[in-house]
Amino acid sequence: MTNKKGFKYEPKTINDIIWGNTESRLRIEDIVSGTEALPYCGKSAILLYGVFGTGKTTLAKMLPNAIEIGKSGQGLMLPENLIACQQGFNGPQVMVLIENALNKVSLNESGLHYFILDEVDNLTSSAQQSLKSALNTDRGIFILTTNNISELDKGLKDRCVLVEMNAAPISGYLPLAKSLISDMGVVMSDIELLPTITAANGSLRNLIHNVERLARRNKGVV
Ligand SMILES: Nc1ncnc2c1ncn2[C@@H]1O[C@H](COP(=O)(O)OP(=O)(O)OP(=O)(O)O)[C@@H](O)[C@H]1O
Ligand SMILES: [Mg+2]
Repeated sequence: MTNKKGFKYEPKTINDIIWGNTESRLRIEDIVSGTEALPYCGKSAILLYGVFGTGKTTLAKMLPNAIEIGKSGQGLMLPENLIACQQGFNGPQVMVLIENALNKVSLNESGLHYFILDEVDNLTSSAQQSLKSALNTDRGIFILTTNNISELDKGLKDRCVLVEMNAAPISGYLPLAKSLISDMGVVMSDIELLPTITAANGSLRNLIHNVERLARRNKGVV
């Protein structure tokens, strides 16, 4: 664990992800193991969707390497293509980025290219249409994240395996909360932690921030 402020508890592997529900965990495990093939039968993408701060971008960045290891036994030879969609790309811009990558020979053992499109709802509707066409490929795997699944093109969603990333049951956060306070030398009961965990509504940003603040108050160091 590093001591970079706020990032000490950043998940290192998929096993560290806190899942909103069991089906989401199983779905990702099946994709990584190859039990659910991708690209296959018109689906070439995974869409991670849910409320703020649940670990979608974190998981998206882990998946290309994990999927490649599942397929070929080796990690990525070529870094994945990370497309941050915050800037509202238009259709031609998205197509150029994706086609340029797909036209190169992949150095990965599987022969596949990997793409992460973070916050994909920020793409204009014409860009979403273009992306929909780009997903009609068996040469790449696309990992999409969004907070606003209702704003996505229906055809785009149909080409994705949908994985919900919403708040987990409270018990899912207790081990993390307990590690946080114990590292600060504070002892608190589960009951004392529950209101703060509940109020975070699945946002690990809020959870870490607020649990640490609570622990500092309990310790008398504000
Ligand atoms: N299982 C976890 N344990 C501890 N910290 C985590 C965990 N998952 C994510 N985090 C941390 O929580 C923060 C938010 O994670 P991330 O950015 O992946 O969420 P997100 O779902 O993409 O958020 P947004 O919806 O705002 O885009 C990051 O600092 C990340 O390191
Ligand atoms: Mg994100």
